[in-house]
Amino acid sequence: MSTPTQTSQPSPNTSPLKTEVENPNNPLSTLWSTSSIAQEYLRTERITRPYADVLVQKAGLADLIEGNAREETGEEKGEVRLWDFACGTGAVVACLYDKLRQGREEVVRGKIKVLAADVSPEMVAYTRERGEREGWKEVLGLETRLVDVTNIPPNLPYNPPTHLTLSFALMALPTLTLSSLHTQLAPSGTLALTTWSSISWYTYLLSAAQLVLPPDLFSATPSELGFINIAFPDRKLHLPETTERELRGAGFADVSVEVVEIEHEWVDARDFVRAMELPIRAVSGKWGEGEERSIWSGKVKGALVEVVEGLFGKGQKVRFGMGAIVGVGRKGN
Ligand SMILES: C[S@@+](CC[C@H](N)C(=O)[O-])C[C@H]1O[C@@H](n2cnc3c(N)ncnc32)[C@H](O)[C@@H]1O
Repeated sequence: MSTPTQTSQPSPNTSPLKTEVENPNNPLSTLWSTSSIAQEYLRTERITRPYADVLVQKAGLADLIEGNAREETGEEKGEVRLWDFACGTGAVVACLYDKLRQGREEVVRGKIKVLAADVSPEMVAYTRERGEREGWKEVLGLETRLVDVTNIPPNLPYNPPTHLTLSFALMALPTLTLSSLHTQLAPSGTLALTTWSSISWYTYLLSAAQLVLPPDLFSATPSELGFINIAFPDRKLHLPETTERELRGAGFADVSVEVVEIEHEWVDARDFVRAMELPIRAVSGKWGEGEERSIWSGKVKGALVEVVEGLFGKGQKVRFGMGAIVGVGRKGN
């Protein structure tokens, strides 16, 4: 189900952006720096991938592929240069590449070029290898780079990009990042991003945490909205209005923002909890240090299996929806 909330021209009451205050203990600043992060994240990518598919559509990339594939029109669509920033394990590129299947590879070859970049060397290495293995390198000319999106280096390949995607990274990034992405885009270029609006699984996690954590550790565990806003507590990133205001404030026009609700499914409670390991690590920062923290994390995971089995049944499928904000903006000419 998709619930459009805004598709409009710049509103007259757009307020200037305030510089937001970052949580000094922001767990997202260290979450991505472990050596096994890419393997760990692949289980989470199952969740982001359906939204990445929506992102590719909303960015207009799917239409461009269709246009290029309709050879008989003879229409010149021009070169598409996509920068997928905060690429993780490559969810967006995977979705784009899927659209090229069914014999469209030859039509599109050389017309769509992709740079996938991330701040995590493990994610970059994984996406590069995946791209070589799955044909992204050959068909999309995939280049990969280590890039901190808050400090974009000069001389990146496929510059300036006609399209920029940012799939589930806004919650870790200061608002001003969007202004710098606006600067990087080619005239008329498009930025498309996703960020979480509702993560209903989080209530299961809180129930599990309450069962096993001592009161002081439980009270230090963020709420659902506290988790979505964990890096910038006052920004209200769970609201579509925030994405709209931030895109406009960064200079984007033709801004459209909508909330997309997608149902997710796991084979059983244990399968679901495996996919939650990374988010659980992100909220476990106040559950002690080292060994102590991993003991509490293990207990919470065990309790989470029980909570979810209690709701969906032991050995039964686990199904529920999550909501993401999809925001798109265009740079003027
Ligand atoms: C939730 S993952 C999203 C990955 C992928 N885009 C997807 O949708 O599956 C967030 C990604 O943002 C990356 N990231 C976080 N801060 C970043 C920064 N400052 N510059 C570039 N990448 C960043 C992380 O390394 C991680 O791969």
